[in-house]
Amino acid sequence: MACNTKSPQAQRDKASSPANRPTRVPISMLLSNEEQTAIGILPASRWQQQFPQEEPNDRFAARAKTASLTESIFQFREIHGRTYHSDIGNAQSWEPNDERHIDAMEIAHHTFTLVIGRRLYCAPLDKKRIQSVLDVGTGTGLWAIDFADEFPDVDVLGTDITPIQPNWVPANVRFELDDCNLEWTWPDNTFDFIHGRMLVGVIEDWYEFHRQAFRTCKPGGYVETFVGCTTFQCDDGTLKEGSAMSQWGKVFNEGGRQFGRTFEVYENDLQRKAMAAAGFEDIRYQDYFIPMGGWGSDKEAAERGLWWKIALEADLEGYINYIFNCLVGWTPEETKAYADQLRKEWSNPNIHGYFWARSAWGRKPEQFPEDTRTGR
Ligand SMILES: C[S@@+](CC[C@H](N)C(=O)[O-])C[C@H]1O[C@@H](n2cnc3c(N)ncnc32)[C@H](O)[C@@H]1O
Repeated sequence: MACNTKSPQAQRDKASSPANRPTRVPISMLLSNEEQTAIGILPASRWQQQFPQEEPNDRFAARAKTASLTESIFQFREIHGRTYHSDIGNAQSWEPNDERHIDAMEIAHHTFTLVIGRRLYCAPLDKKRIQSVLDVGTGTGLWAIDFADEFPDVDVLGTDITPIQPNWVPANVRFELDDCNLEWTWPDNTFDFIHGRMLVGVIEDWYEFHRQAFRTCKPGGYVETFVGCTTFQCDDGTLKEGSAMSQWGKVFNEGGRQFGRTFEVYENDLQRKAMAAAGFEDIRYQDYFIPMGGWGSDKEAAERGLWWKIALEADLEGYINYIFNCLVGWTPEETKAYADQLRKEWSNPNIHGYFWARSAWGRKPEQFPEDTRTGR
């Protein structure tokens, strides 16, 4: 499925031709130049120009440097030399599953736990009561493994559409291939805690996801999700319209719309709305300010921003490959030039781009309307 060689324009023309597009990307996804312009996505050629470098501000410069699986499961899709999950139903993941990306996801695991206060979850779990935990879209499985270490008597199940989890895991962890967008097959009232981290661009319908979580959660159990925004904000005008950072959210958000899995979860407050609609109560949330790259005088926030940058840069091309190549038809060379510019911008302590991340959690009532109706 790799598309390469030829000039960027020839590549783009080639990618734009339905016959040459990576076969599993819906043809309707690739935006024409006019459509890109209409939603503010700049031409790819822009990122191959030279950009003037601003002088770093010394005060911040130092910080800134600083199962039984069948063979088909391993027949991975390939886009521009990066591998993705095999064909499994209608699943469509924008994240590679190769070694480089697995390494990056491991750094991301550290970053996300640091962001939420060096812990694995926020919900007020009753440690004496929990027996069974589900981690949806578990990725490398590190969250599930760490949770299992912390709760050796709890059974932890991690699910994903791609088998990138390690084999050597604590005895109380197991992993299964499962598409979270299909109907969940676990019986009612199975789990004490259902966890989903960074499932932006993954979940097709956040309301349906939470309905399934509500059904499979035990009364008194919790659901918790964590998401980060793809849209950078700036309060002092240092992040300019037309910069690489300003384009990041535009392309991801449009990509999510095109392939039916939104990235705008925080922006639309989907976690809390969907929890409430499903029937969860005692819904709480915590927002985290992430100054990208680690600028600013708030040391804790700066640490979050620096780690987020490190996590993304561990495989920046991998994070943007699917969405940018397949949605806007960029060649690998154009994507690389854009990635180089991004690195420059968010490493510049004079550019004060930030975004928000959010943990939200809610409890399934001990008694809920269905109980009353059925007399259970
Ligand atoms: C951003 S990663 C997050 C991984 C993990 N939750 C973490 O925080 O480290 C998103 C994960 O969702 C998985 N994924 C994508 N589509 C999925 C689907 N339909 N069902 C289950 N998992 C899916 C991807 O394979 C990837 O591992």
